[in-house]
Amino acid sequence: MSELALPQCQTPDSLMLFGFWYRAVPSRQVGRKNMVKSMLLETPLLVGRDRHGRPFALRDACPHRGMPLSCGEFDGDQLECSYHGWRFDAQTGQCRFIPSLTADQKLKVDRIYAGSYPCEEHDDFIWVYIPDPGPAGAGCSPPTPPPIPAPSIEKFSDKYQLAFLTADMPVSVDHGIIGLMDPAHGPFVHQAWWWRSRHSIHEKQKNFEPIPSGFRMSAHTPSSNSAPYKLLRLYAAADSITTTIDFILPNLRTEIIRAGKYWFSSLTTVTPITRDHCRIDVVAAWNIFRWVPFGPSLLRFVFAKFVEQDRQTMEKQSEGLKHNPHLMLIDDADRPAKWYFALKAAYLEAKRTGGEMKHPMRGPVLLKWRS
Ligand code: FES
Ligand SMILES: [Fe+2]
Repeated sequence: MSELALPQCQTPDSLMLFGFWYRAVPSRQVGRKNMVKSMLLETPLLVGRDRHGRPFALRDACPHRGMPLSCGEFDGDQLECSYHGWRFDAQTGQCRFIPSLTADQKLKVDRIYAGSYPCEEHDDFIWVYIPDPGPAGAGCSPPTPPPIPAPSIEKFSDKYQLAFLTADMPVSVDHGIIGLMDPAHGPFVHQAWWWRSRHSIHEKQKNFEPIPSGFRMSAHTPSSNSAPYKLLRLYAAADSITTTIDFILPNLRTEIIRAGKYWFSSLTTVTPITRDHCRIDVVAAWNIFRWVPFGPSLLRFVFAKFVEQDRQTMEKQSEGLKHNPHLMLIDDADRPAKWYFALKAAYLEAKRTGGEMKHPMRGPVLLKWRS
């Protein structure tokens, strides 16, 4: 990959990575009587819960003639398509009944499957595993078992608070992700009197190191030019505040802040919805400010503000991206974005050849920028 890797040079096929877990829907939106339509990687899904409360995800298209299964009836175990009444097991997608068959017709109904996807529920979200698409015309088969469990937020005590925020971004997952890890937009996009002004811009340096399928901003003491960090330092009476930020393919950014016995841990995902649309979900857990009544609302406020600033920025950016302009990534501020594209390319290459994934970083790197 050339040094000035251009996001636009990505081939359309490399935009969305299959074979991973993705956050689909907030848990609380899905009930036994509330199935929710969701779209992940241009795959239309119907997410629901069976009578035991277990989540399921089916492709929202009947394998017979494509009627959305969301138009059908659900009895807590099986879904009945509204067009010809075929019935499918909600958890496996296996066909159970075809009403038009006569007694002497021997079609093996249980060999027919509606598309069905493994589900897990963690930290207020239902996750869905999206496998590689099967060969065209092969029909649907039983759900592919995922190689690993869905990601979850790392926690450091039994008691904690949890909250999430979600925002739709009218840009590709690539722009969503590189926007998230971009250190240089802070002074321009995230200004607020209680956070920082653009005049507080100063030189920074951070150490990065390779980790499996990603990279880490090594544990460091957070930037001193933001008021909340100053507050936190006072509150935790700790001079040992450390932040560690990881990015891991396909779309995971974790940030862990530890200050004595207090901690804050977040898992942010940028989920491809379609080729030019993504969704950012920030889910955070913390035990900081547990005894301060306004603590959690304060945190939510801060995060909501940041995410909204990013959303508005990407909405404007999508205008500029419409006509596929030439773009450039510069060192050092855009180096994480370059690593992201290189990791993605390495992952796809390993998949193509069946070999090991070659990590684009050879060792620790010190990056410098002003922000
Ligand atoms: S389209 Fe679903 S049963 Fe025919
Ligand atoms: Fe941002």
